[in-house]
Amino acid sequence: MALRAAVIGLGIGRLHADRLAAMEGVELAAVADLDAALAEQVGTACGAAAYADGGGLLAREELDFVSICTNPATHLSFTRRAAAGGVHVICEKPMAPTLEDCDGMIEACRQAGVLLMVAQKKRFEPAYRFIREQSAADFGPVRWAAATYALGRVAKPWFWAEEDGGGPLHENAVHMMDILRFLMGDVERVYAEGGNLFNPDYPAQVDAAAITLRFAGGGVAAVGAGQASEWGFATEHVCFSHDNAVAEVDGPFDAPSRLRYVLKGREEATVEREFADFDPFRAELEHFADCVREQRQPLVPGEEGRASVAVCLAVKESVRTGRVVRL
Ligand SMILES: NC(=O)c1ccc[n+]([C@@H]2O[C@H](COP(=O)([O-])OP(=O)(O)OC[C@H]3O[C@@H](n4cnc5c(N)ncnc54)[C@H](O)[C@@H]3O)[C@@H](O)[C@H]2O)c1
Repeated sequence: MALRAAVIGLGIGRLHADRLAAMEGVELAAVADLDAALAEQVGTACGAAAYADGGGLLAREELDFVSICTNPATHLSFTRRAAAGGVHVICEKPMAPTLEDCDGMIEACRQAGVLLMVAQKKRFEPAYRFIREQSAADFGPVRWAAATYALGRVAKPWFWAEEDGGGPLHENAVHMMDILRFLMGDVERVYAEGGNLFNPDYPAQVDAAAITLRFAGGGVAAVGAGQASEWGFATEHVCFSHDNAVAEVDGPFDAPSRLRYVLKGREEATVEREFADFDPFRAELEHFADCVREQRQPLVPGEEGRASVAVCLAVKESVRTGRVVRL
């Protein structure tokens, strides 16, 4: 029987709804948005019931899983309500504004015996997956990484609020922190220089930073992140140096489709690959549906989402205090 799914929040959630409506073995039963007209429009397009409030949807629909795509300050309350009803949860990144909220989400799902996955989509990107697989094989572990990951302007007020999206270094850089953790392990300490460099409209928020990370396994990384670019110009570029290879992943911002690598000492044999048309939203949602069906832990359980939020909070603390922050 098809899994019954729903989406709450139809900004980026619109993409989740489209993917779920087209997915084999899944029935998109309902969608919700505070903008009732938007909910109706997406519901009609996807053949799903429409609600003007996520709480009403969860109260009325019989579901196997829900995708929470609202602003981060609401992730805890929706997760609690879904878990209390026995509904598995996939939640958009960043998991939450605070570690206390992350803990609340993990605990609610643990107590209810439902799965919790944070939608850190980069873990599904083929270029990064290749780096991870090769790290465990010929390449050896990543010892050093350097990343450029600067985005354009986002005008949404919740994005800039410390108690919600937490600004570019929380709402957005969490993608880069998560993929570096996935490839290099737990972060041990963070030092960052930055500030409110470009957005006087949001003076309280750290909008860009130059970040250094030391990993528990001994690796190091440098990351330039934040709202320091322009949409259409912004790129994603990460260099990795392993014991036995060097590699680069790059492409337009959030679409890192190109991979180059070479084994050390074999410069004449550089390999270039292109992963065109990859859809990370479909990949993460298919993965979660499989996990629900097979009752197995997803690739990004709540604890992993929490650990990536912790790095983002440490980055901002380091900028604000001028100190090294240990995790
Ligand atoms: N993975 C990605 O690439 C990606 C991209 C963009 C956003 N996001 C994440 O997705 C989440 C949402 O971001 P967005 O850009 O779509 O924000 P958005 O503000 O564009 O959309 C959020 C929607 O949620 C709705 N909403 C809020 N409270 C609700 C409620 N109680 N019931 C029903 N609907 C409600 C709002 O009306 C709004 O339409 C954030 O956590 C963000 O970080 C992820």
